[in-house]
Amino acid sequence: MATVAERQDRVSHSGYSKVAIALHWTIAVLILGNIAGALVAESLGDEMEAWIFSVHKSIGLTVLALSLFRLGWRISHGFPRLPGDTPGWDAVLARATHVAFYFLMIAVPLAGWAMVSAGPRPLHWFWLFDVPKLPVSRALAGVAHEAHEILAFATLGLAVLHVAGALKHHLIDRDDVLQRMLPLVRRRA
Ligand code: HEM
Ligand code: HEM
Repeated sequence: MATVAERQDRVSHSGYSKVAIALHWTIAVLILGNIAGALVAESLGDEMEAWIFSVHKSIGLTVLALSLFRLGWRISHGFPRLPGDTPGWDAVLARATHVAFYFLMIAVPLAGWAMVSAGPRPLHWFWLFDVPKLPVSRALAGVAHEAHEILAFATLGLAVLHVAGALKHHLIDRDDVLQRMLPLVRRRA
């Protein structure tokens, strides 16, 4: 069976670039903020709810654009190997989580965009410019609504697994997997 290093042979970098780190944390904060905002919005009254969802849609569209750019960055720049002694199951789980995240980072905002496209409200980006609606039927918008909710919660579940994995590397394996994704942190030798 191929070793972890052999399976990640197309990866030549020893760490994440500043761009990859900046994109990781910007997108993570925007996604978690968007989930939190959507969940508390209802309890804050109609006016506040409408404002939060305007911001929610603008943040979501930003996540979509950044995620597409980030996917291009990952494909063109690669990603670092896991330490050579990482067990195979751990490496497979980590990579599967990352692939699922890339899917969700694009599918969740796209579903949100599709679901509001059949509605009457205008769509804008932070009140700065109008965003065109997608050509979807009411039926498809309904499906997108369901998908938006289910996939957003799947993102949250995956984030819990992902953070547990990062902490396992840091506290149990005591390797530099967490540190290499942290900005301004010197990596362990
Ligand atoms: C980072 C991307 C996004 C995340 C993580 C996210 C997450 C969520 C979550 C967790 C909810 C609450 C689901 C529920 O309880 O019904 C929600 C609702 C909503 N989202 Fe998003 N969303 C994102 C992007 C977008 C985008 C791009 C749009 C539209 C352009 C959008 C439009 C909406 C709307 C209109 C609702 C309210 C749905 C309802 O009233 O049932 N979202 N979103
Ligand atoms: C919803 C929030 C988050 C999303 C969507 C997300 C997504 C991702 C993705 C897609 C990667 C793979 C990067 C690549 O190779 O291209 C990654 C790596 C990583 N993330 Fe997150 N992340 C989130 C939150 C967090 C949090 C809160 C932590 C803190 C513990 C964290 C720690 C890491 C670490 C340490 C790596 C590097 C793993 C490695 O080197 O193999 N992430 N994340």
